[in-house]
Amino acid sequence: GKSLGMIFQKASTRTRVSFETGIYQLGGQGLFLSGRDLQIGRGEPIKDTARVLSRYVDGIMIRTFAHDTVLELAEYASVPVINALTDLLHPCQAMADMMTAIEYKGKDLKGKKLTFIGDGNNMMNSLIVGALSTGMSFSAACPKDYMPPKHIIEFGEKYGNGKFEIVTDPLEAAKNADVVYTDVWASMGQEEEKKIREAAFAGYQVNKELMAVTNKDCMVLHCLPAHRGEEITADVFEEHANEIFEEAENRLHAQKAVLVECMADEMPEKV
Ligand code: CP
Ligand code: NVA
Repeated sequence: GKSLGMIFQKASTRTRVSFETGIYQLGGQGLFLSGRDLQIGRGEPIKDTARVLSRYVDGIMIRTFAHDTVLELAEYASVPVINALTDLLHPCQAMADMMTAIEYKGKDLKGKKLTFIGDGNNMMNSLIVGALSTGMSFSAACPKDYMPPKHIIEFGEKYGNGKFEIVTDPLEAAKNADVVYTDVWASMGQEEEKKIREAAFAGYQVNKELMAVTNKDCMVLHCLPAHRGEEITADVFEEHANEIFEEAENRLHAQKAVLVECMADEMPEKV
């Protein structure tokens, strides 16, 4: 009987559908609120939107650009606020990713290695948290000008305890990896940088050559949507399609867990 307001200021397939079907399956309802149709699209402040929506719904989920928007929403809302992707982080995706790694690699991920190839962006930032909090070691290869923000690197160094490294050479990063992960070269909101990014990220591709230096049975994960021929080759994508689409399915299960944790008065009998 609870309602989740779902604010989207960027496009979405997986996040929207998994949250909307997830809350329905738990006995609640999701309200899809496009940034274009809400009054925030016409300049109504986020802090006012937060105080209004809190009087109608039991939780607010938001996908937006600046991370500060989510922080302000959470500060002014009196109901739980869920981050469904900002330019800085994508935590709900990382939860589904760690769930998928556990399904394939076993409950104890300690000692396993996750390698991220590409942009030091929202996806990589949240995977640093996901990998280190499950005891995995984390390595990444990023072009020099596309490293994560300083405070994210400091977080990795502090909590990584010697199991955290970011280098510029993809083959060095992928050596003995158990999970290889990649994401698009140009994220939502960076469409105008597409050409510059194509040049900067050439070589930061998950392909057969890169997979050859990983551990046996290394998984490949991708948050999707994927750009074949850019961050991943079509053959590696198809070879690992079962893992990648199970990862997409796990968004639904992970989202339901987040909804129960944030919004349910008690654990539903059937989840
Ligand atoms: N991975 C992910 O968040 O997909 P959507 O952008 O389709 O929601
Ligand atoms: N880094 C990508 C992730 C999409 C799920 C983006 O922000 O567009």
